[in-house]
Amino acid sequence: NSNGNERHESTSEAPTLGMSNRLTNYGDADFSLFLRKAFIKGMGYTDDALSRPVIGIANTYSGYNACHGNVPGLVESVKRGVMLAGGLPVDFPTITLHESFANPTSMYLRNLMALDTEEMIRAQPMDAVVLIGGCDKTVPAQLMAAASAGVPTVQVVTGPMLAGSHRGTRVGACTDCRRYWASYRGNDIDEAEINEVNDKLVPTVGTCSVMGTASTMACLAETLGIMLPNSATAPAVYADRQRIAEQSGAQAVALAHAGVTPDQILTPEAFENALRVLLSLGGSTNALIHLTAIAGRLGIDIDLEAFDRMSQETPVLMDLKPSGEGYMEDLHRAGGLPTLLRELKPLLHLSAMTINGHTLGENIDAAVHLIDQKVVRSMQSPVYAQGGIAVLRGNLAPSGAIIKQSAASADLMTHRGRAVVFTGLEDLANRIDDLGLDVQADDVLVLQNIGPKGAPGMPEAGYIPIPKKLAAQGVKDMVRISDGRMSGTAAGTIVLHVSPESAEGGPLGLVRDGDFISLDVANNQLNLEVDNKVLDARRQSLKGEEGGAPLLGYRRLFMEQILQAEQGCDFRACRPEPTCRIPRQNE
Ligand code: FES
Ligand code: MG
Repeated sequence: NSNGNERHESTSEAPTLGMSNRLTNYGDADFSLFLRKAFIKGMGYTDDALSRPVIGIANTYSGYNACHGNVPGLVESVKRGVMLAGGLPVDFPTITLHESFANPTSMYLRNLMALDTEEMIRAQPMDAVVLIGGCDKTVPAQLMAAASAGVPTVQVVTGPMLAGSHRGTRVGACTDCRRYWASYRGNDIDEAEINEVNDKLVPTVGTCSVMGTASTMACLAETLGIMLPNSATAPAVYADRQRIAEQSGAQAVALAHAGVTPDQILTPEAFENALRVLLSLGGSTNALIHLTAIAGRLGIDIDLEAFDRMSQETPVLMDLKPSGEGYMEDLHRAGGLPTLLRELKPLLHLSAMTINGHTLGENIDAAVHLIDQKVVRSMQSPVYAQGGIAVLRGNLAPSGAIIKQSAASADLMTHRGRAVVFTGLEDLANRIDDLGLDVQADDVLVLQNIGPKGAPGMPEAGYIPIPKKLAAQGVKDMVRISDGRMSGTAAGTIVLHVSPESAEGGPLGLVRDGDFISLDVANNQLNLEVDNKVLDARRQSLKGEEGGAPLLGYRRLFMEQILQAEQGCDFRACRPEPTCRIPRQNE
């Protein structure tokens, strides 16, 4: 097929394997191309196949990752879409991350996955790439990579799992995992029942079925416009999910021809839309860190105070667990994310461009048919009137902290109490259930050293359990403060992401038992009522406690490079100087 050869060897702008600038350099461009073609032909390709736009597909299947259990089928569907549109699909592996199988934490490895993905996009010839992610850290890692690599990108998610059923009650990972475990701890259910429910919580492959981090990031990727419209919510096992994958493959070919790069999609307007939708979803607090990291790759900085103001004028409309009721499959049946976007239209930048060549506003109008549904509330009857996530500052959090108000107790929003301090995860595990622990219901639980560097990897341990002795008295919630994160599927009056973290010398590490802490969410304040002189003395006494074997490998890279929560916990070396701050005033 001479046609293919002509296109292949011509110097026209047709995007092909051979035309890519990113040739492995042997000092002789023609020889490099000759060698590359010789090797790939070992896979049985013809020159015709090799003359087509090459669409890379990041394959994140792993036997450890049930959230990605449908990836092999999705790869096939993406390939079909690529070929129907005249492209050549080539899948390649990258790291995959599952929340429960990523020791010490998946967050510790998110940046490794971002580096892997970014460099594999760069290293291998591809004119566009389809990234298949799903579990919490994978979509953030892939979008960070896409933003940095600058190759036309289509994001695809694996989709949520279906909800299960336990003795007639709908259950889903992992809000209900926590609920049942708490019942078991409180002796409300026996061992036979906790074992029975263990089989029901994850009834299919796919991502957690509530509005946790994975669902939140799927919705935000769709909002950002880097994923096809109405592609966030289709369950992993639905035929819809396969069709979305096929369409995404075809869209990648179109993007390759048009040369639409991620920076043309991931604009300040798009991120402002995503922040707005995050708030309206009652979405995971983790997503704020991830959005900050993705935006940071493009020189876009997130201004926490402006985000707090945006929060005050954004109602929570999504009635899904953990902020409300319902599971992702309910949202899908209710029309998917476009149902929410339609309701939020007055607050969105509708002219933001998306990967299908249409604006967000055009996509909303095209996607939504009015459905009688109960999952997405109207602006007039929100789940929570305003401020899903509030930003706190004060002498305990000079660089900021956050609280998910929509999942917290109203009566604890203004609170002053005595600190009960745990110095780390081990200390917490050793003492939290000690019946002799000196703790009362109106105390403030403080957990130190679970920040980005502290644990390391900022574990989702900010959901400090209620001490056993208080739980037995019926105490359900207390003010809890840490420099860590919380699962998107958890709820309570929990202050997170305190920055700077304890391990970086932040004031959180200087809190001692019996100090008074005051929380005032309405006024965005979090303060430690201890004299500066006393704090200075405590800081001095902390010095010189370090030591141990020198760090090597990824651990060393991580400790040298990791940034704090307000900079997305990205690596310093991956984040260019910011050129713009969002959300912008009066937007
Ligand atoms: Fe993968 Fe929840 S564990 S999405
Ligand atoms: Mg999670």
